[in-house]
Order: sequence, then structure tokens, then C-alpha cells
Amino acid sequence: MINILAIESSCDETAASVCRDGNILSNIIATQKIHEQYGGVVPELASRAHMQNIVPVVDAALKQAGCTIDDLDAIAFTQAPGLIGALLVGAEFAKSLAMATGKPLISVHHMQAHVLANLIDEPQPEFPFLCLTVSGGHTQIVLCKASNDMQVIGQTIDDAAGEAFDKTAKLLGLPYPGGPLVDKYAREGKPIYKFSEPQIPGLNFSFSGLKTSILYFLNNAGTSNVYKEALTVDADVRKKFIEENLPDICASVQQRIVSILLNKLKAAAKQTGIKEICIAGGVSANSGLREGLAQAGKENDWNVFSPKFEYCTDNAAMIAITGYYKFLHKDFAGLDVIPTARAEW
Ligand code: KG4
Ligand code: ZN
Repeated sequence: MINILAIESSCDETAASVCRDGNILSNIIATQKIHEQYGGVVPELASRAHMQNIVPVVDAALKQAGCTIDDLDAIAFTQAPGLIGALLVGAEFAKSLAMATGKPLISVHHMQAHVLANLIDEPQPEFPFLCLTVSGGHTQIVLCKASNDMQVIGQTIDDAAGEAFDKTAKLLGLPYPGGPLVDKYAREGKPIYKFSEPQIPGLNFSFSGLKTSILYFLNNAGTSNVYKEALTVDADVRKKFIEENLPDICASVQQRIVSILLNKLKAAAKQTGIKEICIAGGVSANSGLREGLAQAGKENDWNVFSPKFEYCTDNAAMIAITGYYKFLHKDFAGLDVIPTARAEW
């Protein structure tokens, strides 16, 4: 029996999980509400909140799993990428625990863990599979040949898909993080406004042009079909236009973001000949993306997989499952390991 305790603290969720032989026994998350009032994550406040949360969160994860520290075989933690101050809290906690108990330490790459979240529950994809990882910080297509053999074959050259949703929401006056709200309004509207799809070579993505088109579109209050300049209409006219057309605007933006994502995913599937297709990351909760993926799956004869929502957003269960596979490969870290904000693959 192999019990792994995993700790995740890369951004604004303090999370801990215990997995036994690859089965998740607990998955505890303390979400930091303090950032809402600032419209985004404030790194310094995130680090402080992690300091407050980490002991109770680890305690709760052990209790829910019916484990004590003595029962653990290894301690896994998120080493990168993320906010450096936030990562330091989880890393130093994990290292101290490993040092005090003499148990092995496992360092986990957060983005690889998002991909391996697809291996938590049944049914599971077979290797090799492709994973579209879409979150607030990343947009990637990953070719996963084995749990320890992954390669990024496409990624965003500017904003992440989640950022595109959140920035749209901000322009529309919706609170942060606005992605889920854009999704909610989109379900009530029709995609009647056309935003152009960027022409980016290969499997890479770009979302910054879309953000600018949305800004100009709103500044024109939808009065023109050519949104090349910020022809600022009266602020009240802009506000009224948004109020009266919110569902259709959200449906139109969402449709474009989803089509950008799915067209690249289709290209990646064609290029690699792989039909095992997964999604991961917070944006994979989006209803338009899930519907579009199911549809593309039928049309292209794919086997489509998506983790449970609680394993899509940042969580420690995905760190635990990755830690479990690393344990099987005896891939341990030394106590001198340090977290890094960026991480190459
Ligand atoms: O993976 P995640 O929880 O955190 C990281 O960024 O690592 O992803 C959060 C992102 C945010 O941008 C949020 O707006 C977006 O996922 N998101 C959604 C939906 N649910 C979460 N975007 C669109 N539709 C949703 N239903
Ligand atoms: Zn993440």
C-alpha cells in the first residue's frame, strides 16, 4: 500500500490530498476569498493566506483519509510553475515534513499534474493521448506518451484562454473571476456577433487580438461591423448596449474562444494521428467547450475524457496522482530542491 500526501500552493488555492495506490482518499481546498476585492490574485496576500491555511488544510486531508503522518510513504508538492512566494510556502512545508519524518520528497510540475488529473477516475485515456490544458494562466496542447513522458506541442503566445474569459468579463463589468459568469450568460444568448479568428501558424494560440476586438466592439456599442478603431461612444450608450445585449455578447465571445481552442486541437489530433483526447484546467468547466468537444469527438471518432470539475481547477489530488506515478518510478527530489516561478518541460 502506497500513501502519498500532496500539497498544492502555486496560486490562490491552498490544497492537500492523500492518495492510496492511485485512489484519492481526500481532496481539501481552502480558496482565498481575499483577492476578489482586487479583481485578481495579489501575490503577497496569497503567500500570507497560504501560511495561515497550510496546517489546517493538511490536517483535514490526513483526517479525511483516515491517515496519520506515520502512514505516509512520501510527500509530494508543487515545485513549479506559479507565484514564487506562494510556491515557497508549500515547498518549505513539504521539505520540513520530509526532513522531520525521513520520508521521501517528490517534486511535481503543476502543468503535468493538470494533464494527469485525467488518470484519477475511470474511464481513463490510453497512452499516447493529447490533453488541452486551459486555465487562467496557461493554454497548452500536451502530447502525453507516458506519465513521465510529456511534451508541449502547442501553447499560447500571449494571453491564456481563462484570461480571455476573465478580461472579457471585466470589460463587461462582471466581477473576477468572470469566466463562469460569461459561461452562464452565454447559455441564455445567441452568438450573433462575429469576432475574427486569429491566424497563428502551427498549434499555437493567441487571444490578445480577440480582447482588443471586444474592447473596440464595446466602444462602438456594436454599431459598426468593422471594429478597427476605438470610436468611443457615450459611456451611457456603451453601458446600455452591454446591459441589453449581455447574453448575446457572451455567447459570441465564448463561441470564438471555443472555436480557437477546438480548431487547434483538431489540427493536433490530425498531425499526431491520436484519437484519445483529454481536457484539463479550470476553463474545461466551460459548457460551450464541453459541448464543442463532445461534438468534435463524434465527428472525428475521438475518445473524449474530462476530469471531474473538482480535479480540473487547481487542486492537490492531481499533485497526489502525479506523485504516485513518480513514486512508482522512484523519481524523488533532494531536500535542496527549490521552487521556481517558471518551469521548462
Ligand atoms: O485552473 P484554474 O482553476 O486556475 C489556474 O488558472 O491555474 O483556472 C481558473 C480559470 C479562470 O480564468 C476562470 O475564469 C476560468 O478558469 N473558468 C472558466 C469557467 N470556470 C472557470 N472559464 C470559462 N467558463 C467556465 N465555466
Ligand atoms: Zn492550474
